[in-house]
Amino acid sequence: MKHLLTLQDITAADFAAILDRAAQMKAKRSGYEHSLKGKSVGLIFFKPSTRTRVSFSAGVASMGGVAYYLGVNDLQLGRGEPIKDTARVLSRYLSAVVIRTFAQQDLEEVVQYSTIPIINGLTDLYHPCQALADFLTIREVFGAKQGVKVTYIGDGNNIAHSLLLGAALSGNHLICCSPQGYQPKPEIVAAAEKLARDSGAKLRVVDDVNAAAEGAQVIYTDIWASMGQEAEAEKRRRVFKDYQVDGAVMAKAAKDAIFMHLLPAHRGEEVTDEVIESPQSKVWDQAENRLWAQMALLEKLVAN
Ligand code: CP
Ligand code: NVA
Repeated sequence: MKHLLTLQDITAADFAAILDRAAQMKAKRSGYEHSLKGKSVGLIFFKPSTRTRVSFSAGVASMGGVAYYLGVNDLQLGRGEPIKDTARVLSRYLSAVVIRTFAQQDLEEVVQYSTIPIINGLTDLYHPCQALADFLTIREVFGAKQGVKVTYIGDGNNIAHSLLLGAALSGNHLICCSPQGYQPKPEIVAAAEKLARDSGAKLRVVDDVNAAAEGAQVIYTDIWASMGQEAEAEKRRRVFKDYQVDGAVMAKAAKDAIFMHLLPAHRGEEVTDEVIESPQSKVWDQAENRLWAQMALLEKLVAN
């Protein structure tokens, strides 16, 4: 494992090892202080971020390294310098780069020209670091046993794609419930199904919220209009109006079900204030786990 562009770059064993190490780091809160000594990590962001930006910055610092936040408009990249040139130059200065951008192909191009590990900090297609944190959170609640029933309700987007792959790698079941026309890409579902054959995960893509929520142990949602889709926000509010996670949806889930959301949340759209503020909501632990999952990832990719 040299880079993390998508969870398709990871084996089930790597996925499990990262979660094990993340849980250990979180429990001990020591043993990693020098792991990135003398290392530097660049954070190139073409889109805004709170969690990804701050958790990577804080994580690198607590491992003894230095992180540089590189907003695209502060780089020559923002004035037209080709990404392949930026990749070759930064490879001479840094130990790794995290990139948040639009097209997955841009990351693939960076990898071709980089001599250092590249980590996907979210693209239109995937958010692998988020899925690592999500399955760490699920493990904390339900234990390391497999077969947890996760239901994702909402847009078949980057989060849905990475959850499908993460469920397949970790042997958990995932129902992705999205309206017709907004379902995850069939080729990514097929890739996840291929992985699921080894782990025993059951994956389904459906459009009926009530059936999807029935008996779920995790109800997960994301915003309806992702970054870059602002012009479609109004239309999407109409398309997704019956896909809101409210008290009635949570009542269909299992008694001990938890609510997850990667944040930022739009209360009154994909989730009600009542659900996100309820005792079932694990969203703050989920956000914290970005830190631990990414520290374990950095240790695997970058540490001395
Ligand atoms: N969940 C997540 O990636 O949040 P940010 O956009 O704040 O990084
Ligand atoms: N699906 C959302 C996630 C935000 C962290 C987006 O891409 O904007």
